[in-house]
Amino acid sequence: MSNVFYRAVNKTYIEVDHGEGIYLYDTNGNKYIDACSGAAVANLGHAHPVILQAMMEQAKKVAFSHLSRWTSQPIQEAADLVAELAPGSLNKLYLVSGGSEATEAALKMARGYFVERDGQSSKYRIISRWKSFHGNTIGSLSMTGDKRRKKYTPLLLNFPHIAPAYCYRCPFGKCQETCQVDCAHDLERAIKMEGAEYVAAFIAEPVGGAACGAIVPHKDYFKIIRQICDHYDVLLIDDEVMAGFGRTGTMFSIEDYGVVPDMICVAKGMSAGYSPLGAVIATDEIYNTYKNGSGVFVHGHTYGGNPLSAAVALAVVKTLVKDNIVENSRRIGAYLLAQLQEKLLPFPFVGDVRGKGLMLGVEIVKDIATKEPYPVAMGMAEKLTATLVKHGVIVYPGTGNADGENGDQFLLAPPLTITKDQADELIDKMVTGFKEFDNNIG
Ligand SMILES: Cc1ncc(COP(=O)(O)O)c(C=O)c1O
Repeated sequence: MSNVFYRAVNKTYIEVDHGEGIYLYDTNGNKYIDACSGAAVANLGHAHPVILQAMMEQAKKVAFSHLSRWTSQPIQEAADLVAELAPGSLNKLYLVSGGSEATEAALKMARGYFVERDGQSSKYRIISRWKSFHGNTIGSLSMTGDKRRKKYTPLLLNFPHIAPAYCYRCPFGKCQETCQVDCAHDLERAIKMEGAEYVAAFIAEPVGGAACGAIVPHKDYFKIIRQICDHYDVLLIDDEVMAGFGRTGTMFSIEDYGVVPDMICVAKGMSAGYSPLGAVIATDEIYNTYKNGSGVFVHGHTYGGNPLSAAVALAVVKTLVKDNIVENSRRIGAYLLAQLQEKLLPFPFVGDVRGKGLMLGVEIVKDIATKEPYPVAMGMAEKLTATLVKHGVIVYPGTGNADGENGDQFLLAPPLTITKDQADELIDKMVTGFKEFDNNIG
């Protein structure tokens, strides 16, 4: 009997032994393709020699110093490099230790910005979307629009949520031909209903991840959102905790939409799973408002910006650039998406195969014509995932897509270093797993 308090206390977990490249090995010697990079984290694959070397060198020098007193070369260099890569004047990195800490910090930074700028300010509410995931701490969960929040509702901040940009299940009943990007205009309705004087920011993922399985908004979505935010003096927070650092085929996912947000939240891919790290990348305007105001952003976590994590991030981002890994994500991602659409859509339970770069999603339905989901009690996402595990493929399942409870999907997000041969191996294994699953449910 283990003394570990696991998330699902009755579930059996695979015991990991080691990893190499896109593969993970369990302690019984079985080999798996880590086809979701954990949770879209291990973007450079496992045991990357360059990152291991950088970790060792930094650990020998100093692993920890607290940001209240110390700065370090790795954090300065990592910030300089990221500022160079980030769009517009997004030049200032506030370092934390993960994605929830990043979105939580962005929430407070947005509120603080208006207080610093205007003295007294009534702006504090953050608008977000249903079918989104922004983290598990109370502030970030308040912005999250997913079933993960339901048990904790009494604890959450009363923040509004607008319709998701979910073309497969358009909340406005539109299709590609009739689309007027109503899901973007929904933000204006919400701001007016709430009163712009109470709204500090809007937060969204450029490609929806953990709560929905890689939903990609209309190409004009963020242009409309940016215009609405500007009109009502509302900050735009781009949550790229999952999508950032090459996952969707560009260094920052928002680049594809041709807009510049006011903050970008990053984590996962920035340190690629080698050490916990996250950041809010803020514009010069936000930074200078603090600088010319009180001079202090009252916030901080003990491990934020520790030298070891910063050295890892520096090595990871340098490797992404030097080895052209973002291009690989775009190229192999496009190939994988086309192959999966061709080979999986014919299965009678596959409703949609979608995504961008190497952030891909597969939605499972009971009836393809009506998009009726399986009842959540049938646990189809988990069952399909278990079948794929038997065939040596690890994916990231989720539920609630159709109505907040029912509706199965899984996320496919292999390391960005995956080769074409490995993509073919992944496709073959998935098709075999899908055939077995089809026979079982048949
Ligand atoms: C878009 C997004 N934001 C925030 C988070 C929370 O990050 P973390 O789990 O590192 O706290 C996640 C995690 O999946 C995420 O995908």
